[in-house]
Amino acid sequence: MKILGIETSCDETGIALYDGKANQIIFEALYSQAEEHDLYGGVVPELAARDHINRLLPLLKNKMKESSVTMNEIGAIAFTNGPGLRGPLMVGAGFANSLSYALDIPVIPIHHMEAHLIMAKYDADDLSYPFISLLVSGGHTLIVKVSSPNAYKVIGQTKDDAVGEAFDKTAKLLNLGYPGGPEIEKRALLSEGKNDFSFPRPMIDSKDLNFSFSGLKTSVLYKVKDLSKKEDLSEDTVNDIAFEFQNAAIDCLVKKSLKACKIERSQSLVLSGGVAANKHLREELEKHKGAINLYYPDQKHCTDNGLMIAFAGFQKITEQTKDFGIDVAPRWSLENVQ
Ligand code: KG4
Ligand code: ZN
Repeated sequence: MKILGIETSCDETGIALYDGKANQIIFEALYSQAEEHDLYGGVVPELAARDHINRLLPLLKNKMKESSVTMNEIGAIAFTNGPGLRGPLMVGAGFANSLSYALDIPVIPIHHMEAHLIMAKYDADDLSYPFISLLVSGGHTLIVKVSSPNAYKVIGQTKDDAVGEAFDKTAKLLNLGYPGGPEIEKRALLSEGKNDFSFPRPMIDSKDLNFSFSGLKTSVLYKVKDLSKKEDLSEDTVNDIAFEFQNAAIDCLVKKSLKACKIERSQSLVLSGGVAANKHLREELEKHKGAINLYYPDQKHCTDNGLMIAFAGFQKITEQTKDFGIDVAPRWSLENVQ
């Protein structure tokens, strides 16, 4: 069965056609609006929604033309139903439902964070239940206990900013571009350690599995303000701040995910979501590979994309497919997935 995946929850227009039975990607395409939103230092929901409208149909038409597949061969359509920005979600939902009506095929609403999580299974045949998932993106920082398909229990989460959001806000403070995660990572790699900065690791030793990132971001803010009183920040200083910020954020993620595995006696840790693209995070977790089995999607499929929606759709359609209406869920708890 060929499933078309449509992702429009934020600022990436993602589509993919995935043949579930053959486990083959027929095509995938991504249009990133990042440059447009960079002008405003963050995503502007109204502009994002308008751009999804402009991009979706041309992206699909081009990819269909390039492939030898016809519209009638598409067996189902999966789309991101939430959580995310309401306007952008409505565009994807409207597009998916109209197409499913025209082609008379099922349409499957997908939970965006579940799709991130499931994507780690894409090329990990040996991943078995139960497992722990560290789900880290621009809007979420969750530790989830996954007992079986669809059985998600959130056992840890951020008390304030999501970790991706902290990367984005810190990058903005340092006058780096949007999205901030890849920019901070690049700058951290350039650090030669000329300045020995030290930022806090909030809640790292708390007994629970929760996180807090707003204090870390505020520490960077105070440091930047203080240093800027004397002179503009040098490139070396920016690199060193990025390095220490990244270390601090990642120390918290690593410590709490390992703790979760220990408490839940899980040997498998699944890392997903946009921040999972961060190489330093992967490397720090890889160091514990003897104690845990680590799984994560390839870098391209950590950040938002259409394939993760198509892939999640394929897992769902084999269970039970209903006829769903257009009713997006901008706030949708992972624990309420069916
Ligand atoms: O999953 P995603 O693409 O969108 C949401 O669902 O939010 O995640 C986007 C987030 C952004 O905050 C971005 O800065 C962060 O993931 N991100 C990274 C990296 N690549 C993307 N954070 C750290 N290091 C990266 N390499
Ligand atoms: Zn995402």
